[in-house]
Amino acid sequence: MSTSSQSSYPMSGGEDQHSYIHNSSYQKAVIDGFEEKARQNILEKFDLLNLNPHLSTFRIVDFGCSIGPNTFHAVQNIIDTVKLKHLKESQENSLVPLEFQVCFNDQPNNDFNTLFRTLPSSFGQEYLSMGVPGSFYGRVLPRNSIHIGYTSYTTHWLSKVPEHVCDKKSSAWNRSYIHCNYLIEEVTNAYKIQFTKDMSLFLEARAEELVPGGLMIVLGECFPDDVAMYETWSGIVLDTIGDCLLDMATSGATTQEKIDLFSMPVYFPQYSELKRAIEQNKNFTIEMMETTSHPLEDKQLTNDFIVSMFRAFLSSIIETHFGDGVVNELFYRLDKKLSKYPIDFDKCKKKMVYYIVLKRK
Ligand SMILES: C[S@@+](CC[C@H](N)C(=O)[O-])C[C@H]1O[C@@H](n2cnc3c(N)ncnc32)[C@H](O)[C@@H]1O
Repeated sequence: MSTSSQSSYPMSGGEDQHSYIHNSSYQKAVIDGFEEKARQNILEKFDLLNLNPHLSTFRIVDFGCSIGPNTFHAVQNIIDTVKLKHLKESQENSLVPLEFQVCFNDQPNNDFNTLFRTLPSSFGQEYLSMGVPGSFYGRVLPRNSIHIGYTSYTTHWLSKVPEHVCDKKSSAWNRSYIHCNYLIEEVTNAYKIQFTKDMSLFLEARAEELVPGGLMIVLGECFPDDVAMYETWSGIVLDTIGDCLLDMATSGATTQEKIDLFSMPVYFPQYSELKRAIEQNKNFTIEMMETTSHPLEDKQLTNDFIVSMFRAFLSSIIETHFGDGVVNELFYRLDKKLSKYPIDFDKCKKKMVYYIVLKRK
């Protein structure tokens, strides 16, 4: 399958050592870091009294939930906060009791079986749950049906590989790299255009699904405006994965042709670009938009941690493009290369994590 068509590459499923379940603590650190802020924002900015007075079902969606456990923590925090707010406000106003419905959205090939099998609330009936398969770059839920939307670490996955990036005749051909590391201007521009289009589609769809006054919480990573992907530790890891693939082409485990036609539909924007993309959508007010450093930024991540983390999110795209049997060797080689040429974290430029709260007008 060509990676220039619509893309859908789930995180590693199941519950074994390679699963996203055991390799998502880097993302969880960010979710935990913003938990208190999300609580405050929901208490202050969500107006329960403005909703239909007969409302009895409160709907929350996690867009791009993967298989847990991060999604479970995030939605539980939202539910606990809405319950607290409802309790406080019920003392002065007659509010009907609330039931919670959580919609878990991801691409259809996400491992929803593992997600629902490991759902912590399956015995306690804290909320009713529902799987919503489909790309969040289009509408996946009924109009006017969602009260709080949430997404974390998702919108860097573009809807597709940008135009011409895998076209050998184009000046935007991502020659010798497997991702947008910002080193080839035409390639970076193609990714920027795709990111802006996709962000607009994401927000248009959410604007239709959210009720007026509904909140959309968005977490992810971006760069300061003077930092490029190739200068950050994760950019270096992806370039090293590219080098490992080239070594594998030399040894016959894959081909140069396959590498030439491979570029990941992943793009991390610079801050002002992200801000512009958010501001362009006029259906929301921006209630909060802030950045901070990643909670693990100053930690020396071990090779084991890095290799397992990248394996959990890249296995499916690698297998789709390069075929079965490549993943084990690729990540074995990555481990060896990182041991031979350790990343000097002190010299790497820093990424940022962002936290955005939008309110549907
Ligand atoms: C890095 S995981 C993040 C999972 C979880 N939100 C977290 O914070 O740990 C990215 C998830 O986004 C999903 N995803 C990427 N593009 C998507 C799309 N267009 N529609 C729905 N889900 C998408 C992937 O399948 C994957 O499960």
